[in-house]
Amino acid sequence: MDLAIMGTGTVGSSVADLASEYGHRVTAMANVDAAAIDPDGIDTAGALERQRSEGMAHLGDADPDDVLAAEYDALVEVTPVTLGDAEPGFSHVEAALERDRHVVLANKGPMAERYADVRALEAESEGEVRFEATVAGAIPVLSTIEDYGPGTMTAVRGVFNGTANFILTRMAAEGLGYEHVLAEAQDLGVAEADPAFDVEGTDAALKCVILANVLAQGDREFSLEDASVEGIKDIPGSALELAREDGRTIRLIGEVTGDEIRVSPRLVPEHSELAVSGTTNIVQLETDNAGRLNLSGRGAGGPETATAILADVNRLPEP
Ligand code: HSE
Repeated sequence: MDLAIMGTGTVGSSVADLASEYGHRVTAMANVDAAAIDPDGIDTAGALERQRSEGMAHLGDADPDDVLAAEYDALVEVTPVTLGDAEPGFSHVEAALERDRHVVLANKGPMAERYADVRALEAESEGEVRFEATVAGAIPVLSTIEDYGPGTMTAVRGVFNGTANFILTRMAAEGLGYEHVLAEAQDLGVAEADPAFDVEGTDAALKCVILANVLAQGDREFSLEDASVEGIKDIPGSALELAREDGRTIRLIGEVTGDEIRVSPRLVPEHSELAVSGTTNIVQLETDNAGRLNLSGRGAGGPETATAILADVNRLPEP
């Protein structure tokens, strides 16, 4: 497929790096040389090289309209998440669908904050919207839910934020301070552009909201306002120490149960499935007639998230 990539942070760069390996062609890419457009395919390796030598461009430097107007089969929307109206991501999705193009998102904003609006636009378009990469990076959570029928998933629980989990793991194991460990997580390339989203629980909550929207199958729309959210910033190292003396640890747990969405630090047994280490995510899916499914793996990072995006691209119908 021909891909236009909107956004060239860690994830966009990885999509550009991997796309050609899997037979796709990048024809337009925002933020590389302002906006690189080439209907015959961009030399993504060269473009990324130039971007690196010039320093990372920031959202808003490029002219996204040029990218949206370029020729492509699927728009890969990987701009940073925004809350409320989910702009500019939502407008990018809208522009592609109005041209009957497919959209693949890693940006959580449109699917968490304007789920019904996106679905309504999709219903009017020849294009499809896929968003596996919005929840837990490389872990195929949404496609597992999609393929599970005719049964249903009744609830979801898990560790949805690698940055917060990395911080909690390092604080507990090494007795390191919060700020020091946050800087390490940012170096790993898993933290959000604004790491406040990671440590305040917002990123995990957005993933849970998306899961709630998928599980509701259009019966009800959820947004961040429906979630109860508490992050990890106020957890003192002494709390982790006390938990460990008791054979337990603290994890930032996200849950979707019925109409309830909750993200909060919870005590979990040190050897339980939920006590994953480092940047690992775990997603537990409760099913109506097959018990619990556990999916765990890398929930963040460039190649990991790009892999989920390219898996979605492969699920799209040929133009
Ligand atoms: N920043 C997120 C995390 C990855 O640390 O898990 C993208 O959602």
